[in-house]
Amino acid sequence: VGALAARSLAAVRVLESHGLDYCCQGRASLEAACRALNLDPAALLREIEEAEAARPEPGVDWTTAPVRDLVQHIINTHHAYLRHELPALEARLHKVVQAHRERHGGMLLELARTFLGLKAELEAHLAKEEEVLFPVAISYEESLARGESLEPVMFGTVQNPIRCMETEHEHAGAALARIRQLTNGFTPPPDACVTFRSLYAGLAELERDLHLHIHLENNILFPRTIQLEGI
Ligand SMILES: [Fe+2]
Ligand SMILES: [Fe+2]
Repeated sequence: VGALAARSLAAVRVLESHGLDYCCQGRASLEAACRALNLDPAALLREIEEAEAARPEPGVDWTTAPVRDLVQHIINTHHAYLRHELPALEARLHKVVQAHRERHGGMLLELARTFLGLKAELEAHLAKEEEVLFPVAISYEESLARGESLEPVMFGTVQNPIRCMETEHEHAGAALARIRQLTNGFTPPPDACVTFRSLYAGLAELERDLHLHIHLENNILFPRTIQLEGI
């Protein structure tokens, strides 16, 4: 499923619309993922082809663009988004907890606990990627382009930090699923005020952005880095 999602953004949208997890469970085969949701794999592939034909993708094919550009794109788009949005969401959540503790206290406290755990993990995760893994991916590509052999890395093989990042992605995926469940699919209660609504809208956007972000790493950047190491 991950490889299918790596084809195009149109494929990502179709998979999303059917609730197929293409990032954290991206290793599942299309057949297995479809069976679990009672979908027909052939019909799904047709739908993706139609979506791709209807809207040819502008922009970059990250499966072939330079790794340096892909890394820059992840940092400038998705890491920058998280660094800006996570504190903003925390502030909004804090306000909502203060104002609606009486009627929605139990759910809101569990939501706050889950969100704050996710936020702390993600902040550490972004730093590890930017300081450890991404520079190695770029240096592999550039050493090979210069015809040099790869600098040995202190963690033996790049597969070790990659495995660690993938485990953290699974944690993030589980926290997002819990948030979706707690917020009833990001549907605010009927008595919700504007802040409550904007909190839910922001959490829905966080889920979308993080899924796309993890997809670029798990399904494109990490396999490409492992492949470079093997050349
Ligand atoms: Fe990342
Ligand atoms: Fe990541």
